[in-house]
Amino acid sequence: MVKAKDAYVWDMQGNRYIDAIGSWWVNIHGHGHPVLTTALRQAIQLDHIQFAGATHPQAVLLAKQLDAHYPSPPCKDASNHWRTFYSDNGSTAVEVALKIAYQYWQQADEPNRTRFLAMQGGYHGDTVGAMSVGPITKGPVNNDDDYTSNGFAEPFAPLCFPVDRIPYPEHYWGNDAIDQAEADSLDALDKYLDQHGHNTAAFIAEPILQGAGGMRLSRSQYWDAVLERLAAYNIVVIFDEVLTGFGRTGKLFAAEHLTNRPHIVCLSKGLTGGVLPLGVTLVQNSLYQAFHGDGASPQASHAFLHGHSFTGNPIACAVANASLQLFEHDNTLQKIAAMAALHTEQLTALHDKGLIYRPRTIGPMAAFNMGQPTARYDHPLRQTLTQQAQHNGILLRPWGNTAYFLPPVCLSPQDLTWVYTTLQAHCLS
Ligand SMILES: Cc1ncc(COP(=O)(O)O)c(C=O)c1O
Repeated sequence: MVKAKDAYVWDMQGNRYIDAIGSWWVNIHGHGHPVLTTALRQAIQLDHIQFAGATHPQAVLLAKQLDAHYPSPPCKDASNHWRTFYSDNGSTAVEVALKIAYQYWQQADEPNRTRFLAMQGGYHGDTVGAMSVGPITKGPVNNDDDYTSNGFAEPFAPLCFPVDRIPYPEHYWGNDAIDQAEADSLDALDKYLDQHGHNTAAFIAEPILQGAGGMRLSRSQYWDAVLERLAAYNIVVIFDEVLTGFGRTGKLFAAEHLTNRPHIVCLSKGLTGGVLPLGVTLVQNSLYQAFHGDGASPQASHAFLHGHSFTGNPIACAVANASLQLFEHDNTLQKIAAMAALHTEQLTALHDKGLIYRPRTIGPMAAFNMGQPTARYDHPLRQTLTQQAQHNGILLRPWGNTAYFLPPVCLSPQDLTWVYTTLQAHCLS
């Protein structure tokens, strides 16, 4: 690819494509947005500085913005707000979260809290910690229930630490087994907590929407029930909002769908406006305090000793600040609501014609399954659909028999309708 503007990308032969998955979910406002490209001028002021023993205005501003926008921790007061730890991608934001949770308990005098709990089908990145809490072994072949079980992490299984997982109660239109699925999942959680609750450091999950697991939705009341159970055992809750953050579930953050709050939050992808790599791990001040020295004599042994060369890069922070401002000035959430309505209309039409099953949509994301149920990532439908779509000017990356759209919000209703019509004409009939 040699050029990109708004929702379009051009290859070296001059062919134009619609970026129907927002360049792997990072692009929100469109490519080459003038507000974001202007923010790149931050390079003239300060291009980069080590984020150790130094900070800079763009990082401070972004930390303040995130504290103001992320749903308040319980008992928000002057002493309990969101602290920001910078890194440079989604996997490192997760890695940092896991390490903070682990070290927190070592320093909070409960060193036996070493276990991690995750969701089946959750994906959190490709570094070793993130792989450990993700899917490791190849999944079953004959169901639609988990596309992350593609075996990508299998060669590294011996390197990964042991993690327990509870079933993910996937919801989609017309799923009348959802109440039972949620009850079963909560039952599995209760059993786990009975046995290991007091030895568990943290629970990690993608709230409301599992991305790489197959764009699978779950209901907010289920999440509140999970968080209430975890709170009874004092378990640190990590929300991986690398995908769900920044409007991907129709609200700025997925946590806004819930009454309860996480303790640690991982952000990347949408945070960046789709321009430069950046990762953030938000941590409630109450946890942060366990890492603090006494002021007079900073205790290195208590500090969280983790840093990357490009931690908190000023240019990336400037673009992230500009992207957040666009949410306010460009009515991004309203545009997302309009796109969501169009997705619903188009999915309904495809579903009524019997061309798709398990339709589901939230915010700017729409997904569905086609053909025979299969959890195999490499099912032939994946290749066929990718190629047919590309041949017709649409960039897609389906998994197995699941296809999804997550375009930049600047994609016009006409173009989005055209994507659905083209898909139906060339790929679904
Ligand atoms: C929920 C979630 N967490 C973490 C990651 C890893 O992010 P990155 O690819 O930036 O390392 C991803 C990437 O798809 C993701 O979807």
